[in-house]
Amino acid sequence: DKGGWSSFMAKEVSEEPEAVANTIRGRVRDGQIVVPELDGLDELFTSITRIIVVACGTAAYAGLVGKYAIEQWARVPVDVELAHEFRYRDPVIGPDTLVVSISQSGETMDTLMAVKYARERGAKTLSICNTQGATIPRESDAIVYTHAGPEVAVASTKAFVAQITALYLFGLHLGRVRGSLPETEAAEHVRELEAIPTKIQQILDREQSRIDQFAHWMADTRSVLFLGRHVGYPIALEGALKLKELAYIHAEGFAAGELKHGPIALIEPGQPVFVIVPSPRESAELHKKVVSNIQEIRARGARVIVIAEEGDAAVLPFADEVLRIPLAGPLFEPLLAVVPLHIFAMGLSTAKGLDVDQPRNLAKSVTVE
Ligand code: BG6
Repeated sequence: DKGGWSSFMAKEVSEEPEAVANTIRGRVRDGQIVVPELDGLDELFTSITRIIVVACGTAAYAGLVGKYAIEQWARVPVDVELAHEFRYRDPVIGPDTLVVSISQSGETMDTLMAVKYARERGAKTLSICNTQGATIPRESDAIVYTHAGPEVAVASTKAFVAQITALYLFGLHLGRVRGSLPETEAAEHVRELEAIPTKIQQILDREQSRIDQFAHWMADTRSVLFLGRHVGYPIALEGALKLKELAYIHAEGFAAGELKHGPIALIEPGQPVFVIVPSPRESAELHKKVVSNIQEIRARGARVIVIAEEGDAAVLPFADEVLRIPLAGPLFEPLLAVVPLHIFAMGLSTAKGLDVDQPRNLAKSVTVE
């Protein structure tokens, strides 16, 4: 039931605030993270020397976002691998490795095979999954469910923000258990996380119709580039993936720092480029670097669409469009910056008269390798 929305995806994007809120619910006590599902695993979590995240598609990009937070909070190295690549290259894993799988459906065959392979090699496995009782969580040593609710549209939206939320809960838990994250700092991050649903709702309320409008103006666009840095980088990848999936447009996401090492050659007059700008308050140095990237592409004629926090005036002289997100700590920006990109991909697909929920050639869960 679409509940009055034009598509399941429109409904599911509107549910992004509650997907985050429901994933946090019941897992905070006295301002600290308490994940009952992870009780009894302290010894494992203190003994691991590395984490490998395995996933496919959007779920892998959630994993990339999680890497930044988990490494910072829990001081354990995190690698993110596409499940189908991990499985076939004789990876170096063992009892000191925790393999974290991320899957909305819990049935993606590539991810399932990676989990089974990791277990056979003696690694412990944790499943982050949105579907109760699915195969991947059943095959794993531990489970943290996302509570995004059923996702019907083939391309994942609300499950993505729920996956990042679950990874952050896990990262905060791990930081506490490993003694690497001071309690006061953890409490601050918990407050940040709890404020995210309201902030996502603000973006939906304030920016949705404007984004829809320029998605319609851009209906003839043949290629769109996305730039981001730090946690904005996986969001650039996610923005590009959604546009490929939903609007059948050539789209690519780049790490902004990589621009001068190649992608800048692609910039010609009129080329639309989305740029995810880090907060000038929280990450002054990165902010400066990304603004100078914007100047470089603008000087070559790019049409620049900026996603920046409210009040960031430095981007104004160089942007054709500015989409605003509420203020948040640096690690929490991806949960906000992705929302305009989901709306944009959906808007462009609709403007082209395509089926947003059932894009050609794709399946919701791919149960073959
Ligand atoms: C693809 C879906 O087939 O599988 C993507 O089209 C999804 O939207 C990917 O991100 C992974 O799916 P899952 O269920 O493992 O998260």
